[in-house]
Amino acid sequence: MTADLSDAFVFFGATGDLAFKQIFPALAGLIRDEGFDLPIIGVARSGDLDALKARARASLAASGPVDEPILARLQAQLRYVKGSDDDLATFQALRTELGQAAHPLHYLAIPPSLFAPVIDNLEKSGCAQGARIIVEKPFGRDLASARSLNTTVHRVFGESSIFRIDHYLGKEPVQNLLYFRFANSFLEPIWRHEYVSSIQITMAETFDVADRGAFFDQAGTIRDVVQNHLLQVLSLLAMEAPSGRSPEAIRNQKFKVLDSLRPLRPEDVVRGQYRGYRSVAGVAPDSTMETFVALRLHLDSWRWGGVPIYIRAGKALPVTATEVLVELRQPPQTVFHEVEPPDGNYLRFRLTPDMSISLGARAKRPGEALLGEAVELFARHQNGEERPPYQRLIGDARKGDQSLFAREDAVEAAWKVIDPVLHAEPPIHEYVKGSWGPAAASAVLANGDHWHDPAPSGPAPAA
Ligand code: BG6
Repeated sequence: MTADLSDAFVFFGATGDLAFKQIFPALAGLIRDEGFDLPIIGVARSGDLDALKARARASLAASGPVDEPILARLQAQLRYVKGSDDDLATFQALRTELGQAAHPLHYLAIPPSLFAPVIDNLEKSGCAQGARIIVEKPFGRDLASARSLNTTVHRVFGESSIFRIDHYLGKEPVQNLLYFRFANSFLEPIWRHEYVSSIQITMAETFDVADRGAFFDQAGTIRDVVQNHLLQVLSLLAMEAPSGRSPEAIRNQKFKVLDSLRPLRPEDVVRGQYRGYRSVAGVAPDSTMETFVALRLHLDSWRWGGVPIYIRAGKALPVTATEVLVELRQPPQTVFHEVEPPDGNYLRFRLTPDMSISLGARAKRPGEALLGEAVELFARHQNGEERPPYQRLIGDARKGDQSLFAREDAVEAAWKVIDPVLHAEPPIHEYVKGSWGPAAASAVLANGDHWHDPAPSGPAPAA
């Protein structure tokens, strides 16, 4: 593997949505914080360099006041290659534009159907030589297509040059999961099936699919966020300690978690669709695509055997928040004769929009009786994120650091888990916007467990 810094940044899909929302702001951040001074070459079918510069400005303006000197630097670094992704001439022009650059970093911010011709042409034109490639999610749409995509990319790029992006891995609170687990010793004795009764991950969003109907109707919630973001979160929560500090040591343990998950059965999954989804532009009028999912996973490992793992994700829910709740078992004996507490002990990791780590406990209520109440002890609470994930990840890819990118085996293992339900398509239940999904979602819960709904913002008060 080469540890050379990439010396040019190329993005395909330069006039697209992803470039507008994420890539331009990330590049501006990199220029501001890391002196990212390489040529930045946009490739797209239409427009010209001036239009691309204007788009860079509009993109930065969309997220707040524009830092003019940084925008000026970004615009000065911008180059433009106009042409189609399946035309070799485009790539020959790109090679000329790359000039002396020997280690370009190519970002495929384009639909997956275009990956194969772009990769082919990168090779034929010489643009792939010494290069790295960033591939956007979704990486495939099921196990078979992910495998074939891996084969396509591997025909030209070695694994150490492939950066499969999952922006969740670039989020501070997600990295903190890994840190918190292995920088503290108190967690280890209880972090297992003897003490943990269930694990629950909720990713709720108040907004609906908005103008992403056409994309979403081909993806659905399981492909959009479960196969990638939420299984990545789970692997950090459930992994064994890495045997060293190398990126591979961490990625090996994460892979083992995904590889130990039982493939989902249709009866472990409840899919929902919000009322009104079928009238969204780009959505089929008889669509059975899910905008909500609740599911139960089983991890066949010595540490986690028998612990149900619940995942719930959806659009048009009452709050926007992502939370992990690790519920601990009740004490072995009832000492105090009070009504069984609904939430005894738990650890809550709030990942978005604010970050917190808290421990749910019981404490005695003042008074003569030995009666308690639920309290939450905060280990940490802070607002917002530090560096935007795309900035962090593009910066890492430029240095060749793969720690926060998904490895081939992990991507395929994640698809293996969900593949059976993608093809079986369990029934779809309608739900009302602003609700917590269809009532049927409770069918995936076992042992009297219940859903823990995240609070709108800041920590949820103890139940
Ligand atoms: C994206 C999904 O990967 O992640 C979106 O395609 C989702 O549907 C988004 O809304 C959530 O990410 P974040 O960083 O906004 O919480």
